Amino acid sequence: MTGKASTKNDNRSVGTVPMRWHGDSLELLDQRLLPGEEHWITVEGAAGVAQCIRDMVVRGAPAIGITAAYGVALAARHCGSEDWQATIRRDMELLAASRPTAVNLFWALERMGQVLSACQSLHQARETLANEAVTIHREDVEANRRMADYALEVIGADKPVGVLTHCNTGALATGGYGTALGVIRRLHEEKCLRRVYADETRPWLQGGRLTAWELAQEGIPVTLNTDGAAATLMASGKVGWVIVGADRITANGDVANKIGTYSLAVLARHHGVRFMVAAPSSTVDMALQNGADIPIEEREAEELREFRGIQIAPPKVDVFNPVFDVTPASLIDAIVTERGAVHNPNITGMRSLFA
Ligand code: MRU
Repeated sequence: MTGKASTKNDNRSVGTVPMRWHGDSLELLDQRLLPGEEHWITVEGAAGVAQCIRDMVVRGAPAIGITAAYGVALAARHCGSEDWQATIRRDMELLAASRPTAVNLFWALERMGQVLSACQSLHQARETLANEAVTIHREDVEANRRMADYALEVIGADKPVGVLTHCNTGALATGGYGTALGVIRRLHEEKCLRRVYADETRPWLQGGRLTAWELAQEGIPVTLNTDGAAATLMASGKVGWVIVGADRITANGDVANKIGTYSLAVLARHHGVRFMVAAPSSTVDMALQNGADIPIEEREAEELREFRGIQIAPPKVDVFNPVFDVTPASLIDAIVTERGAVHNPNITGMRSLFA
């Protein structure tokens, strides 16, 4: 375990923030259309927010949690004065049912639920729930920046390193900075980044559409590769670290993240490449013993049979489409959070930070 970050409460976002809060409405950047089109959707109620999360308008574990918190604030804004506590809690159930794997969603709803329980009136609930959502949003950016400092210590970046990443873990997946991509941003700032290799990340192409877009906008050197090219890249010696985010981390240090992460960890161990998971403490679920307990979302077969309405497989072929997998703790060199880093994670190391 290490822990000595220099950045204090820095909540400046970088890159394109995925949500904008206006007090009585929420705007979400429709990430399904990126990078071709920057289209903002105005959402006015919790049901609409839940639908946007389910449909991947907004995605990425921390961004889902923050968006759900704003969804609860909207629920208070739009409910009538009768039975307001029960009405808001029903809306919270809708939000909780949107996606199952990222624990940040349930963490944020739990926090909003505690604030709601302490409210004496609807007027108070409207104000305090909105404030809490804004706080959750702000704290996420602070946490991202602090974990990037810790990650730099772990990497011990004294000379530029090549990094392979998976999915999108940047500003678009968080409150506006990034977990794994935040670490990569910091490496670039410190002139310790040789190049980022971005897995395109089938089937939603978060790597190609979002990560490559975010990095290119900031002039961070990025090369896009198919997911299948990862082994060849590692064998070439161009990659020193694989750095990924997480959707849920259990008490023993197992990590659920975008499907394909587990394969990267196996490949990294084979090739002597280091493997880091960067995530805020809101992604840690100490209530679950190990990764086998994590609910893994499976999505529609059409996501593999079609691409943007074009058929790319036989229309009735059986499909296996889990969208997350679990990387065992034994394949991870370090889990880095805003509280510090756990090296060679196991239950003891995890408890020392998240008891
Ligand atoms: O299906 P998605 O796009 O929501 O999956 C996102 C990921 O798996 C990310 O790696 C994870 O949420 C970390 S984001 C900081």
